[in-house]
Amino acid sequence: MRVVFLAPSFPPEMIQYTRGLAEVGATVYGVGDAPREALPREVRPYLHDYLQVPRIMDEDDVIERVTQWMRGKQVDRVLANWEPLVILAARIRERWGMPGMSADTVRGFRDKELMKERVRAAGLRVPRSRRVCNEREIRAAAEFIGYPLILKPIAGAGSADTYRVGDAAELERVIPLMRYIAEASCEEYVEGEEFTFDTVCVEGRPVYENIASYLPKPIEMRSLEWISPVIITVRDMYQARLAPGVELGRNVLGALGMGTGFTHMEWFLTPKGEAVFGEIGCRPGGGHIVDQMNYTSDIDLFREWARVACWGVFEAAPSRKYNAGIIFKRAQGQGRITRIEGLGNFLRDAGKWCVEEQLLRPGTRRRDWKQTLLSDGHVMVRHPDWAEAHRLSFAAATGIKMYAE
Ligand SMILES: Nc1ncnc2c1ncn2[C@@H]1O[C@H](COP(=O)(O)OP(=O)(O)OP(=O)(O)O)[C@@H](O)[C@H]1O
Ligand SMILES: [Mg+2]
Repeated sequence: MRVVFLAPSFPPEMIQYTRGLAEVGATVYGVGDAPREALPREVRPYLHDYLQVPRIMDEDDVIERVTQWMRGKQVDRVLANWEPLVILAARIRERWGMPGMSADTVRGFRDKELMKERVRAAGLRVPRSRRVCNEREIRAAAEFIGYPLILKPIAGAGSADTYRVGDAAELERVIPLMRYIAEASCEEYVEGEEFTFDTVCVEGRPVYENIASYLPKPIEMRSLEWISPVIITVRDMYQARLAPGVELGRNVLGALGMGTGFTHMEWFLTPKGEAVFGEIGCRPGGGHIVDQMNYTSDIDLFREWARVACWGVFEAAPSRKYNAGIIFKRAQGQGRITRIEGLGNFLRDAGKWCVEEQLLRPGTRRRDWKQTLLSDGHVMVRHPDWAEAHRLSFAAATGIKMYAE
């Protein structure tokens, strides 16, 4: 089983997928823009060979170089788990006439308007929306959609440049901020709670499913620095209240022609109990959500994904034992972290239910919380009872304080 895996060590969790591939017996050919000498030591044992390309985002150039590199070798899979590279992987597969999702199918997971058109065409509940490319189109779309609305880039990630707009005056303030974005979506603002629906699929059929609850909604996590974002996987994901989300999620996979691999969907649960589609990617969620799923089910989804991608089978028991909560912390102040308060108390309270503590240590420079949800580090808890997992998560969110003074 020869596998070409794009970006085998970036972002850092990709190292785990590379490991998974090697562990299920694949011979892994990595392609990335990092120099070979700069590859992290942990990934090296899992790579059979590696091609450094000058610009990993330059699809045509990468396709030519990888084609040259692999000439004469039989390749069985071309895979990518990092959002910006999923179309590139599909284009290489097409060029080589290989199995896997086509570029057109993958576009349905990348282009937010195309995605919504396809999901809507399947009769599923999607926010009203329009593709907009200039100021005139934004104003016309706002007229059609009404307020409040959401303006966001078509190929966005990390809630960057995403704005909630309450009225026409606010729209005029936001329009200049969107100027450098080529294409945006203008969308009906959906009230309600926000959740994920994550899967590992074999030919569009989920063999593993997960729901996680965002506390608060990502747009608020990204706009208010004082918040410690919390995300908790829901052990009891098949409860009646969440059933519309599971049903929506499964139907979306069909509507978009999902093949084999990870998916990460976001959806809203309205006050009336209706599930509304948010967005979906044909790759795993970021921000440690795969670690959370692993803690939820005591499995190794990095390896199980690889088994599915290579051999089409999922071997782990997908039982759900815990609610796993991650709490991202942001230090008050700028520059380097100077101290952490309340950690000792929290760790004593949480005991064995705290499974990870990776707060940046004093002396470390703060991360840019606008750029990365990872912020200034995280703690992770898990507990069989939802209420206790929730309590512990918020004990960390409010009780641990970090400073950069
Ligand atoms: N129509 C909507 N109604 C209400 N909130 C929305 C809507 N669209 C987006 N949001 C909010 O903005 C956030 C970011 O939007 P979206 O997920 O589409 O963009 P993204 O940049 O890909 O985000 P990320 O990479 O963080 O998942 C959503 O998680 C949600 O909180
Ligand atoms: Mg999103």
